[in-house]
Amino acid sequence: IKKIGVLTSGGDSPGMNAAIRGVVRAAISDGLEVFGIYDGYLGLYENRMKKLNRSDVSDMITRGGTFLGSARFPQFKEEAVRLQAIENMKANGIDALVVIGGDGSYMGAKLISEKGFPCIGLPGTIDNDIGGTDYTIGYFTALQTVVEAIDRLRDTSSSHQRISLVEVMGRYCGDLTMAAAIASGCEFMVLPEIPFNKDELVQELQRGIDHGKKHAIVAVTEKVCDIYELAKYIEEKTKRETRATVLGHIQRGGSPVAYDRVLASRMGAFAIELLLKGVAGHCVGIQRDELVHHEIEEAITKLKRPFKADWLKTAEKLY
Ligand code: F6P
Repeated sequence: IKKIGVLTSGGDSPGMNAAIRGVVRAAISDGLEVFGIYDGYLGLYENRMKKLNRSDVSDMITRGGTFLGSARFPQFKEEAVRLQAIENMKANGIDALVVIGGDGSYMGAKLISEKGFPCIGLPGTIDNDIGGTDYTIGYFTALQTVVEAIDRLRDTSSSHQRISLVEVMGRYCGDLTMAAAIASGCEFMVLPEIPFNKDELVQELQRGIDHGKKHAIVAVTEKVCDIYELAKYIEEKTKRETRATVLGHIQRGGSPVAYDRVLASRMGAFAIELLLKGVAGHCVGIQRDELVHHEIEEAITKLKRPFKADWLKTAEKLY
């Protein structure tokens, strides 16, 4: 391997730039050339790429988002599109690819690898929902952002003696919600992994009110229910003013926290190490503080991330 490509794909996450920097600098240190591909698989298909030098990634470690750009590009499921992408890489002399993204992006990397073109996946998403890794790049930064937002909500919720619902991202994974709820002392949480019953939540809130609680904060993972409808329902039943706040894409921005920078740098360098050893079609993870790698296929299909039931148990004791 002499020349590698790197791209970021799917929803961006803080630390993607640090990961690109890790890939670029480790590759150059090992005597390789690196091409940055713009806007994920879309740019790969459209042949938009440029050589990156050490200085192209200077000052990138602190920056949120991804300077290469990212895109959701469902057309990459089509074989003809993928073949064109591989052709483009070959035409530019690229002989291996590092993909930084979530499990949709991993699927693309797996399919390219199956065509005999070596790829390595790095887990870049705030959702922390990827198999084969305890943590994903961007998760800890998003967690900090959510906790800071909930701290602010607590101030106003308590001043007005209200119930506040806060919607947290995570797709179908409750990790971000659960960790944020514990860290910010939320009264309740609604998670995609646990069947949701709004009347049980109302009963819990009512119990709190009966015990003299002046306000309550409920962290709700996106997609479980309509948070505005839920707020109306709770207000109707408890007669307590209830407000809903959707944190939205605020959660994806910002300078990465130190742990995400370290994780991204280590994973970026590890990807190069693996490619030079001839490993392909694998994704990088961190498990019990050790860098690991698994077949992408296995990570996507078999290594479902276990639900942190013990975290929930602890949280329930602390409500
Ligand atoms: O996967 C990251 C994520 O932010 C999810 O938490 C969320 O469901 C989704 O992306 C939002 O996607 P988009 O930015 O395309 O609206």
